[in-house]
Amino acid sequence: MEGAYILPRIASLDNPLRLAVLISGSGSGLEALLNHQNIPRLHHTELIISDNHNAKGLKYGYEKNINTKIISLPEINNKIEQRILHEELIHIELIKSKIELIVLSGYMRILTPSFVAKWKGRIINIHPSLLPDFPGANAHRDVIKAGVKLSGCTVHLVDSGVDTGMILEQRQVEVLPKETIQTLQNKIKKIEHELYPKVLDSLSEGVYHSIS
Ligand code: GAR
Repeated sequence: MEGAYILPRIASLDNPLRLAVLISGSGSGLEALLNHQNIPRLHHTELIISDNHNAKGLKYGYEKNINTKIISLPEINNKIEQRILHEELIHIELIKSKIELIVLSGYMRILTPSFVAKWKGRIINIHPSLLPDFPGANAHRDVIKAGVKLSGCTVHLVDSGVDTGMILEQRQVEVLPKETIQTLQNKIKKIEHELYPKVLDSLSEGVYHSIS
């Protein structure tokens, strides 16, 4: 059986939670979080990691002089060993930077159960659908294909499943008849950029300690 979620400590402005943000792509969520952190908050981004050296979001880390690392998949043939080694390299950086919470923000890799076990309760993700509906990498495509009238985004703690961990907050948007993947993505990103920083504020305040 999987272990329980162990949430990060309750933070203070003098001693904010130390966040690592993991990205793979454009990093608009990272940008929104860093803007939110322009004034003192209960959390601070200490480390940014991208598995993709072309990720546009890397620039936000460089601009703000945040420790920003590209950790690509190591070049070995065995896929299982490759994932494990990749995560070991990430884990080393997390420990070096004394990270207390891993924030997945458009990180498009599935973490292995052994990595999740080490950090359970201290990995948070945002997913662009109303989970448990439409998990996986193509949520907007799947939503439009299914013809549902509502979509949105979900912030959840990460467990060893794919987008299955404990849900903390959700926000809805209407899916209009002429919606495309692009229009739906833009609309949902907008609400993600408001919701994710707020959930991080609440988590750092201890709001979720009673429900975990
Ligand atoms: C966001 O919409 C996020 O919810 C989604 O990727 C986008 C990243 O955008 N994440 C997933 O689909 C994870 N399964 P960004 O790189 O511009 O922040």
